[in-house]
Amino acid sequence: MRILEAAADTLMPHVPGLSREDLMALLELPPRPEMGDIAFPCFTLAKILRMSPATIAIDFADKLNIPGSNASVEGIRAVALGSYLNLFFEPKIWGLRIATDATKPKYGSSHAGYGKRVVIDLSSPNIAKPFGVGHLRSTVIGSALANLYAACGWDVVKVNHIGDWGTQFGKLMEAYRLWGNEDKLAIEPIRESLRLYVRFHEEAEGNPALVDAGRDWFRRLEQGDPEAERLWRYFVGVSMEEFERVYARLGVTFDHTLGESFYNDKMEPVVDELRAKGILEESDGAQVVRLEEEGLPPCLILKSNGTTIYPTRDLATAIYRKTVMDADRMLYVVGAEQALHFDQVFAVLRRLGHEWAVNCEHVPFGLMKIQGKKMSTRKGKVVFLDEVLDEAVQKALEAASKSNLHPDEAIHVAEAVGIGAVIFGDLRGNRMSEIDFALDEMLRFEGDTGPYVQYTHARTVRLIEKGKAAGITSLHLDGLEVFSSVSTDGWACLKTIDSFPDAVRDAVRLNEPSVVARHLLDLAKTFNRFYRNERILTNDTTESASRLHLTEAVGAVLRIGLGLLGLRAPERM
Ligand code: ARG
Repeated sequence: MRILEAAADTLMPHVPGLSREDLMALLELPPRPEMGDIAFPCFTLAKILRMSPATIAIDFADKLNIPGSNASVEGIRAVALGSYLNLFFEPKIWGLRIATDATKPKYGSSHAGYGKRVVIDLSSPNIAKPFGVGHLRSTVIGSALANLYAACGWDVVKVNHIGDWGTQFGKLMEAYRLWGNEDKLAIEPIRESLRLYVRFHEEAEGNPALVDAGRDWFRRLEQGDPEAERLWRYFVGVSMEEFERVYARLGVTFDHTLGESFYNDKMEPVVDELRAKGILEESDGAQVVRLEEEGLPPCLILKSNGTTIYPTRDLATAIYRKTVMDADRMLYVVGAEQALHFDQVFAVLRRLGHEWAVNCEHVPFGLMKIQGKKMSTRKGKVVFLDEVLDEAVQKALEAASKSNLHPDEAIHVAEAVGIGAVIFGDLRGNRMSEIDFALDEMLRFEGDTGPYVQYTHARTVRLIEKGKAAGITSLHLDGLEVFSSVSTDGWACLKTIDSFPDAVRDAVRLNEPSVVARHLLDLAKTFNRFYRNERILTNDTTESASRLHLTEAVGAVLRIGLGLLGLRAPERM
């Protein structure tokens, strides 16, 4: 926050024995506007100086308020209140600085990550299984994090680690041989694959031969059998096409789409290294790495039949991301149920002496339930993401058709709002909290929703257009007079705008896009209060221009913030 930094700089010369960081950490945002904008509690200093906090506060206020003295800072007034020194920032000086900053194109960005590369593992659905709402969470959270890291100056590499290898392919191939239909598969690849997959599991229950046949197909695939490979390629191809459509709708892109199969030939060297370093041990015929010292159960590396397994692949993947992709940091945006898996993988990397493993981080998230139900692929109880998106867009379209938008525009707006509602519904809460996917609630124009933020943004655009039509723009502003009469609500908007860069930074520090989502809700609410309580366009040109300038700054921040979260910001709704 600009005003927080200014407060620290103001106090710094008068606070012996405290670093700027210490001082920043002590500063507080007062609970009520009449207590000023920033408060400095004098308790810590009282201990250092052996004086009462109240005396220090009075002393400080005196020093800072002598006009023209070294201590006085333009636009800041100090008031002692009990043990606190309260600082009041003059909106006409600080408001202008804040609003001017906010309307610059990259407001909120920084160079904190300059020169560093982060590889983000996101989305990573499994082939021949539907792209379920669980993978939606990874896609949406991962993609927002990618934007946020980029805004903080990081070089971001997004990787989609497709689950394109595993025993499920054997099952699918056998099911396809028995009951498959090429035409159906071509039209609805994922649904048809799922039907085959589910039928396989149903029929396999009393039929061990079927299970064996599935296993046999997978063995053929691993051994490079041409027919098995042809089928595999086909299943991967049709599924990917369907995933691509979802990504396009969500506006998500990847720098690399590398399936698990990409690491097929990269695991052997890892296993060899584990063996050479004496870390690999036998356990019931399987090969494991024991991790008692880390307080973890052993990590399985090779099954008793000698085949590799999920952790083995992730070891090879991490090493690849370090050595070939040159990652300084790695994030894995994957459900919380895989926490143990990642703990084990990172622990094995450390056992291998890879100190960079400390820069690998699992970014977990809670379950997504649909009307309280958990989803299971095996039983076919899934919700198809494209259906969910269609429904969201359809509902948004009903709303958009009631507005006076041109029908063509209404369709675009509905797509932005419907999809935005789903994205925002996923991002607004802490990622670890479970979300109940309630579409009607997410689509409401009032409440903590994406459409509410989008609607507020569209409102700012409309106000500016109205101003223009009336011949008033923020260009009418004449220097420092802009915010001289700003109201409490207006000043609250400006202060919220001022803390937007902190929200971006904190979101990255915590890997938590919800920090930005909540900031936008906060800004939208503050602005709407301002909008309700005072007219923006009045007969007074300076006043109107000033309120429009504020409106413009709010709109700019909402637009930037929505963009970072992966939502579009339609100009009209
Ligand atoms: N495909 C996996 C799943 O759906 C997620 C993969 C996550 N990424 C990884 N590097 N393990 O469970």
